Amino acid sequence: MAMIAYKCPQCRVTVVDINEDKIAAWNSQVLPIYEPGLDEIVRKIRGKNLFFSTDIEKGIRENDIIFVSVNTPTKTFGVGAGMAADLQYIEKTARQIRKFSQSSKIIVEKSTLPVRTAETIERILNAANKGVRFDILSNPEFLAEGTAIRDLENPDRVLIGSRETQSGLKARKALVELYAQWVPKERIVASNIWSSELAKLVSNAFLAQRISSINAVSALCEKTEADIKEVSRIVGMDSRIGPKFLNAGIGFGGSCFKKDILNLVYLCQYYGLEEVADYWEAVIKINEYQQNRFIRNMIGAMFNTLAGKRICIFGFAFKADTGDTRESPAIYIAKWLLEENAAVVITDPKALKNAKLDLAEIDGGNILFIEDHYKAAKGCHAIAVMTDWSSYQKLDYQKIYKSMEKPAFIFDGRNILDHKRCFEIGFNVYSIGKPPMVHF
Ligand SMILES: NC(=O)c1ccc[n+]([C@@H]2O[C@H](COP(=O)([O-])OP(=O)(O)OC[C@H]3O[C@@H](n4cnc5c(N)ncnc54)[C@H](O)[C@@H]3O)[C@@H](O)[C@H]2O)c1
Repeated sequence: MAMIAYKCPQCRVTVVDINEDKIAAWNSQVLPIYEPGLDEIVRKIRGKNLFFSTDIEKGIRENDIIFVSVNTPTKTFGVGAGMAADLQYIEKTARQIRKFSQSSKIIVEKSTLPVRTAETIERILNAANKGVRFDILSNPEFLAEGTAIRDLENPDRVLIGSRETQSGLKARKALVELYAQWVPKERIVASNIWSSELAKLVSNAFLAQRISSINAVSALCEKTEADIKEVSRIVGMDSRIGPKFLNAGIGFGGSCFKKDILNLVYLCQYYGLEEVADYWEAVIKINEYQQNRFIRNMIGAMFNTLAGKRICIFGFAFKADTGDTRESPAIYIAKWLLEENAAVVITDPKALKNAKLDLAEIDGGNILFIEDHYKAAKGCHAIAVMTDWSSYQKLDYQKIYKSMEKPAFIFDGRNILDHKRCFEIGFNVYSIGKPPMVHF
């Protein structure tokens, strides 16, 4: 919404949320999320044509286009628990829109939703005929956290799905014109509304599938002395495959991939497509297997016991350049380490606040949160790299090695460090999909 306000100065954009703390933070000097470049944009236009408010009724009443961007987590109860999308927030929002609207509106699905949700929203909105017209569009968001501003300024595509009726096409045209103020027209893709809803789920499934594919191969590399970096470089040079998203590592995290694939799996099961459901579910199973393998490798390398040892976790965010820790592999690894009775020290440039919240329930005094990497690693038996922060490549590992217990270990869950150099310093180095480099 900040980008729309920034690029379309003639539009007035109001962001409303039921969470008062979040809105207060959006109106303060410290925004509630870390996203490179976002602060500058918000500072430039906040109070001019970008506003943050908790007044949902006014927000609905006074605006012509409403982007519904509420959370759609995995359902935790009842039918479809652990798999289906929990649509209660979407439904509540639709009911609020119906209640407070006094004029016709375009309703844009921005949240990621199961295919055919627009039908549900339409039925709720049109249930009480108030003489107000609602046109529903699907405009899924493809930005990636960490590169959101770049992705929004220069998107690969903007997808707008609509009903192919006269008023559906008119609504679609209005949204196309908004984006066309900065996005080249050939990158604004129009489709039928169901293709649009499904394409977002499938895009995330394909991205996650590439990660699971390369991670599955990394396990085979470790058994055969093939090197995953070499394999992925060679495979990625095929122009039909391409080099992106082929880095082996600890596995994907983030709030979207797992929930969106589970949602896809549930949809396939709902439509009786068991084989298709099993195929996509395997992407998640491999992701869990990769994390499981990582912890088992750690235990094996450190003489089959972690009890009483101090392990430093480098990075808690689910990826670099974000403070977001939702579904971060670091959460699972930290929990496993604690179950093994290890002491855990967590360091991260942007995610320590979220890390504390994630581990609050299990923090029995065995977890330290230290921002300075050198202080965090001091006295530890091992470092486990969980996030691909580029700053980790520039640290003085000689200095770190000196301050650690010996033998000192590095488990590079992101394959980002200079392993040869770390080995020469004295570390025993374990990475993903490569032979370990050990001194004994
Ligand atoms: N985070 C991403 O990178 C990303 C990328 C693409 C798509 N998406 C999709 O966007 C949606 C939102 O994701 P998110 O990460 O921003 O989730 P989030 O949980 O961070 O934010 C959702 C917000 O909606 C608010 N909300 C819930 N019900 C409301 C209501 N009735 N009225 C007003 N506000 C309400 C919540 O308070 C919360 O602040 C999801 O469907 C997600 O799959 C997210």
